[in-house]
Amino acid sequence: MLSWDDFDTKPQQSDKVTEPRPAPEARAKSTHEPSTSRPVEATTPPASSASPAVQGGATAVEAARAAVATMDPAPGLEELEMGAARIQVDEKRIINCRADLNQLVPFKYDWAWQKYLDGCANHWMPQEINMNKDVSMWKDPNGLTGDERRIVMYSLGYFSTADSLVANNLVLAIYRHITNPECRQYLLRQSFEEAIHTHAYQYCVESLGMDEGEVFNMYREVPSVAKKAAWSLSHTQAIGDPNFKTGTVETDQELLRNLIAFYAVTEGIFFYCGFSQILSMGRRNKMTGVAEQFQYILRDESMHLNFGIDVINQIKLENPHLWTATFQQEVTQMILEGMELEVAYARDTMPRGVLGMNANMMEEYLHFIANRRLSQLGLKEQFPGAQNPFPWMSEIMDLRKEKNFFETRVIEYQTGGALVW
Ligand SMILES: [Fe+2]
Ligand SMILES: [Fe+2]
Repeated sequence: MLSWDDFDTKPQQSDKVTEPRPAPEARAKSTHEPSTSRPVEATTPPASSASPAVQGGATAVEAARAAVATMDPAPGLEELEMGAARIQVDEKRIINCRADLNQLVPFKYDWAWQKYLDGCANHWMPQEINMNKDVSMWKDPNGLTGDERRIVMYSLGYFSTADSLVANNLVLAIYRHITNPECRQYLLRQSFEEAIHTHAYQYCVESLGMDEGEVFNMYREVPSVAKKAAWSLSHTQAIGDPNFKTGTVETDQELLRNLIAFYAVTEGIFFYCGFSQILSMGRRNKMTGVAEQFQYILRDESMHLNFGIDVINQIKLENPHLWTATFQQEVTQMILEGMELEVAYARDTMPRGVLGMNANMMEEYLHFIANRRLSQLGLKEQFPGAQNPFPWMSEIMDLRKEKNFFETRVIEYQTGGALVW
């Protein structure tokens, strides 16, 4: 337990730091600190009797003091419009907003902030889940059938890289074009969750002693997995270009394509065959640790999907001119392409019936999911009457952490428990 008394008796933490600060010349090269790059001219002796390192005739402390005293704040504040009127809620927009993006409040999109809070409340870590039963089942030659093993391999193969694709798209493509601080706050939370998901898949691969090279390269080597990854990647390229800017009909529509490709298709369709297969396995008391990891991931993913749908619909509301009949047709086709790729993946992973499901049932499920994505985006459903053959999937998504689906023990996450000073 950390006590303030310790600070009176023990040496200050900073006394232990021996790492020298970079010299002013070195820092001047940093593009992030332009204001400290001016030459230091102060020659007065140091005020303290301590003997800090001497650098080029001036102490490091003296150099820092002089740099701050002569700092010109203008370059850093240029974009902030000093003295401008305070932000009004009505000025906030999801894309192409000119209001100050460094001010979180006043909130305009309460749904985005609420999802950020809900995401934080759902926090979990892969190591909380006991994998012992999975390890013995995976190593037992009679623990799983060949078809069941194939499903575990394919699921880890696809997902172990898919969440990295999503995370990279968030931070390298989407983030800078979403010009709203409460939405960005959620994007940051989502980015961390994607890192946790990649961690979870790696943790499963490591626990089960699988061939890492084989699993992590499936997205390049197995056609039904590679096609899904390639389809997602094809929609990130334009937005990820450092020269890409929103602000025209064409570029705003390109951003919408990216959001639809990642939120509605990648996270909204491509995850559903693998998730339902692994969760069906868990319901049959097989690979319950892996299934529990997937259960938590699915809960996060359903929130990512809902956030994405809200963002897309809000952009449509604020920019109705982007949502043309031709564009709606294009988006419908994107959803259907995603559905076709997922059906092909289902057929490849389930050449025969397994775990109470088969490829035809999965196709029906994916028609149902595609209908749902289309109607969430305000588009016409393409598979009238499609039913959900796996109603238990929606129950799993809604479960709270403390009411665990597989009734395995959940260790409460402790943010302070691992803190060492
Ligand atoms: Fe994820
Ligand atoms: Fe996600």
